[in-house]
Parts: sequence; structure tokens; C-alpha cells
Amino acid sequence: MIQTLILSFLTLALLNTPTNSQLIFNFCETSSNYTTNSTYETNLSNLFNSLTKNTSKTGFYTSTEGEPPYQVFGLAICRGDMNDNFCNGCVTMASRYFPQICPYNKGAIAWYDRCIVRYSNHNFFSQLDDGIPGENICLDQSASDPYQFKQKIVTMMESLAHIAAFNRSVHMFATGAGTGLYGLVQCTRDLSGEQCYNCLNQTLHDLSADDQCDESVQVTALRGSCIVMYDMKQFFSSDPTWVAPPDADPTIIPPVKPPSLSETQRGNGHKTSTIALGVGLPLVFLAAVIIFICLRRKNRFNKNRIPVNAKSRNSLLIKFSTLQQATDNFSDSNKLGEGGFGPVYKGKMPNGQEIAVKRLATGSDQGLSELENEVQFLAELQHKNLVRLFGVCIEEKEMLLVYEYIRNKSLDTLIFENSSGRKLKWEQRLKIIKGISRGLLYLHQDSAIRLVHRDLKASNILLDENMNPKISDFGLARLLRGDHTQSKTSKVVGTYGYMAPEYAVHGTISTKADIFSFGVLILEIIAGRSNSSFSGSSEGNILNYAWKHWTNGTAIEMKDPCLDPDPNTDLEVM
Ligand SMILES: *[C@@H]1O[C@H](CO)[C@@H](O)[C@H](O)[C@H]1NC(C)=O
Ligand SMILES: *[C@@H]1O[C@H](CO)[C@@H](O)[C@H](O)[C@H]1NC(C)=O
Ligand SMILES: *[C@@H]1O[C@H](CO)[C@@H](O)[C@H](O)[C@H]1NC(C)=O
Ligand SMILES: *[C@@H]1O[C@H](CO)[C@@H](O)[C@H](O)[C@H]1NC(C)=O
Ligand SMILES: *[C@@H]1O[C@H](CO)[C@@H](O)[C@H](O)[C@H]1NC(C)=O
Ligand SMILES: *[C@@H]1O[C@H](CO)[C@@H](O)[C@H](O)[C@H]1NC(C)=O
Repeated sequence: MIQTLILSFLTLALLNTPTNSQLIFNFCETSSNYTTNSTYETNLSNLFNSLTKNTSKTGFYTSTEGEPPYQVFGLAICRGDMNDNFCNGCVTMASRYFPQICPYNKGAIAWYDRCIVRYSNHNFFSQLDDGIPGENICLDQSASDPYQFKQKIVTMMESLAHIAAFNRSVHMFATGAGTGLYGLVQCTRDLSGEQCYNCLNQTLHDLSADDQCDESVQVTALRGSCIVMYDMKQFFSSDPTWVAPPDADPTIIPPVKPPSLSETQRGNGHKTSTIALGVGLPLVFLAAVIIFICLRRKNRFNKNRIPVNAKSRNSLLIKFSTLQQATDNFSDSNKLGEGGFGPVYKGKMPNGQEIAVKRLATGSDQGLSELENEVQFLAELQHKNLVRLFGVCIEEKEMLLVYEYIRNKSLDTLIFENSSGRKLKWEQRLKIIKGISRGLLYLHQDSAIRLVHRDLKASNILLDENMNPKISDFGLARLLRGDHTQSKTSKVVGTYGYMAPEYAVHGTISTKADIFSFGVLILEIIAGRSNSSFSGSSEGNILNYAWKHWTNGTAIEMKDPCLDPDPNTDLEVM
């Protein structure tokens, strides 16, 4: 499993191909495969030729090549707002890359931003979502007023579903616009109106039942027979088929809040159990994910969606001259280190408050007000496991972020080989793991804005004097690339080795990607070795190393030699 995941990293190469179309997601039917130089391969390649040649004329084409048992069926559809050129480019690219995305698989589907292409050894024409599992991609950003937003979305998307399914002149494609709200639906045109409607209706229902999506304002739902998208920004290039009437805002019925679970219940939730590391290593990993999920569930009722408070925005702005003074004009002696985004300096404010100043070269053409807005949001995020942002200084070409100063060093300097802190006991490591998961939970679920960190790694975990972990650099990816309005990042940020495959390959942002990085981090904390220390070894990375030990039944050998040498020692897990 992990190895398969790692293999997907290899398809990274695909990302580097210059092209205008972007792969969003794909599904390979691995249940039956063809071989090199087989009849099926020949017929498939003929099929791709025919799809490439014929699709752009009308934006839709189905074709079949060969005779059973080597018969292959194919379908290509371009999004209704794409012109011939875009359509042709997209189908060409999809056809060309199938052999790399789904090598030798007799069936596959790929969703690109501009087209969908599918082929199979069985006839799937006019079949609704035949055997294709769907995928929802929802950005972790929620509306300021989720209830009103949801009402508007439902009204719009239901109208679009009706238009796409039952107005023959629109070719099963419809777009809609309301105030700060844009939607798009598309069915594959082999469907009947009824089938198209069912596909869209079902997808909309799935979305409202999906935790990750129900309050997201940026959604892409991919199905075998249809797609549904909505966003607060216009993302399609045609005139909207449907425009919300000016007074369409439905009366808002305030939701009845479930009684919130009391704090005492939370306190009682911690059960103690012990397991041996020997059998427990992957379990630790699993347990982390489970703790995380449990905390999520519990906290669902305590969701705190307080809008940005009325704190004066000016209080966040700090003068450049103040920072110059505080850091002794950014002297080298005050330099704490060089982070991924720029150098960090230690400073002391006139009132004695110690600070850390991160000096970022933004090179960004984002508007000042937009940046300020973002910083305002980040400053609102306050949690004992997050490094607190005090303020910002925005100069012409650079931005300086002012953080609380954390006394201890980052986790990577404390646990990895050759570091003085390798004597960290298991209890301390466990406390660190728990703290990180709390901070992450807050970012993902409990804060006023949901945020995906995107670059979680040991060097981004700082430790205070009591060895409490604090996550740093959250929000920076979003702040600096300004791509927070894309459900797919145009540029993947993050650190190789920690990145979830779907993020590395497709740029798909979700909280799941952070959990993947968190898993890697937990393995590093247990092993006392960094993921990068495995490059050049036969395993190549810590995941393969862990997997090898796990399958060999030698997981205990993975633990840091600094930990208790007796392999039978029970390690407290929760
Ligand atoms: C087909 O190939 C894939 C790898 O591309 C493999 O995972 C799968 O097991 C193969 N299926 C069969 C039936 O051999
Ligand atoms: C496939 O065909 C090519 C050209 O006919 C040949 O060079 C190659 O060896 C064949 N590959 C296999 C695996 O048979
Ligand atoms: C589709 O493309 C093929 C070439 O691969 C061509 O022979 C065929 O006539 C085209 N069909 C239509 C309907 O244009
Ligand atoms: C399918 O492949 C076989 C073997 O290469 C070939 O004889 C046949 O003509 C192909 N069918 C079509 C429709 O191209
Ligand atoms: C169908 O769509 C067309 C183009 O958007 C529009 O002019 C027409 O009024 C629609 N027909 C119905 C019955 O809604
Ligand atoms: C839409 O889907 C839901 C859930 O599957 C179903 O209960 C409902 O009847 C559907 N609506 C229509 C009009 O088909």
C-alpha cells in the first residue's frame, strides 16, 4: 500500500510537462490488464486517435474499436465552456498520458480541468457512473455565513441540474451566477436527461453529507457521468446560463444548535491503555489518526465559528523602524536561522516582549489589502500548540511577520541523529505528538477559518521551555502564493518526503494531506531519524523502511536506539 503510494510520487514527472490542461484526479480499473504489443493495445491506441481527432468538433465523442474480446470503448467530453483548441489540447494530453497514469489497465478515467476522458473493455455508454467511484475535492475554507451560503448554493445548483438535464439546447452543461457565488454542472452527453439529473442530484446530496464539503465554499465533485463545481469566484469562461434573481436570498432560518458537549465530557474522554511498541508501531501511526478523528468528532459540537472580531486592524501593523530597532537592524548576531520562506531574527520590543521576526521576500503582486486580510486571519488563530502571530510589517517588496519567541529549538534539531536532545524520553515524544495533533485539529476543524498547513515537518514544530510543541509557518503557503482560491494549487508547496501523494501529484489540497505529513512526522519521532536520512539507503525513505520492518515483523528495530533498550518495555500510548 505505502509502496504503491510512493510509486505515485514518480508520476510527479507528469507535472513538469508543459501543458495547459491539468489532471485533477484519475481512477484506474486495475482488475484486468493488457500486455505490450497486444491487440487490445493496438485498438486502444486507435481509439485515442479517434477521440483526439473527433471530440473538439462538438465537445463530445464516443467511439469503439476492435472486436470482442479485444474491443475497447472510449468517451471524451470537454467542459461546455471550452473552445475547440482547449478541448483538443485537453483530449490529446489525456490520451497521451493514460499509459503513464494507468499503465496497462484495460479501463481508466481521467478528470482534467477542461475535459474528461474514459476508456474501458466493457460498454459503459449510457450507463450512470458505471463502476467509477467518485471523488470530492473541497477546499478547507468556509463561508462566513455557512447557513445562508448553503441555501444559496442549493437553490442555484438545483436549478442548474434541471437546466443541464432537461433543456436540450444546452448540451447537458449549465453555469450559474449569484452574488459572490458561481456554479457549474456537466453531464456526459451519452446520458438521458433523467440519468443526468440523477447523477447531479445524487452528487449534490453526497456533498451535503460530506464533512469536508458541506461548508466548503470551493467544491469540485467528480463522478463517472457528471461533474459539479462551485466557488465564490467565477471560474468558467462562458456567460452564466442561470443568474440568481436579485432578491433570491431565501429567508434565513437560524439553525437549532445541538447542546454543546460539556468540557467535563471532554476531560473524561482520555482512556489509558498501553501497548508494546513491538506490535504497536503501525498501531501508533493508526492510533494517531484515530485520536485525531475522535477529537474531531468530539469537537464538532464545539465548533467555534466566531467571525473575525472587531479588534482594530491597526494594532497588527508594526512599523519597520520598530523592528529595525528590536532586531538591532537585523544583525547577524540576532539571526535565529533561515526558514523555508526567509531568514528569522530574534528581537526585543520596547516593552521587553521577546519576538521572532520572519523576513519574507514575497515578490508577490498581491494587493496590500489582500495580504493584510490574510494576516488578520492568521493572527486570529490562537491555540497553545500554534506559534502566535503578533503582527506584520508590510514594506514595498517584503513582508515581515512578527511571532512570539519560542525558547527551545525546532523538533528536527532535538530528535534527529547527532543532536544533543536525542535523550528525549518516550513520554516527552508522546506529549509532543499529542500536542501537534491538537494544534492540527484546531487548524483543520476548530478555528474560525479552516486551514491546511501544507508544509508540516519537524523543522516547523517549535518547542517551548516545557517541551510543549507549537506548530509554526501555518498559513504561509497560502499567504505567499496567493492561490487560496484554487481548489488545486497551481504550484505545489511543501517538502518532498512529507507530501501526500495526491497533493504531490495533483496538487489537491485537503486536510488529509496534512495527516499524511503528520504520519511521516510520527515515524520520524519514533525512529529518531529524519526522512531525508534515508535517501541513498536501499529503502529510500522512512515509509519504505517502516513498511519493510512491519512486514518482516521487526518493527521494534525501528525505534530510536536512545529509547529504552528493553524491547519488552511497554510504552504508554494514550
Ligand atoms: C494490473 O496492473 C496493476 C498495476 O498497474 C496491478 O496492480 C494489478 O494487480 C493488475 N491486475 C491484474 C488483474 O493483474
Ligand atoms: C513489441 O513490438 C516491437 C516492435 O514490433 C518490438 O521491438 C518489441 O520487442 C515488442 N515488445 C514485446 C514485449 O514483445
Ligand atoms: C473520427 O476520426 C477518425 C480518425 O481516427 C476518422 O477516420 C473518422 O472519420 C472520424 N469520425 C468522424 C465522425 O468524424
Ligand atoms: C484491433 O487490433 C487488431 C490487432 O492489432 C487489428 O487487427 C484490428 O484491426 C484492430 N481493430 C480496429 C477497429 O482497429
Ligand atoms: C433552454 O436554454 C436556452 C439557452 O440558454 C434558453 O434560451 C431557453 O429559454 C431554455 N429553455 C427552457 C425551456 O428553459
Ligand atoms: C435526489 O436524491 C436524493 C438522495 O438520493 C433522493 O432522496 C431524492 O428523491 C432525489 N430527488 C429527485 C427529484 O430525484
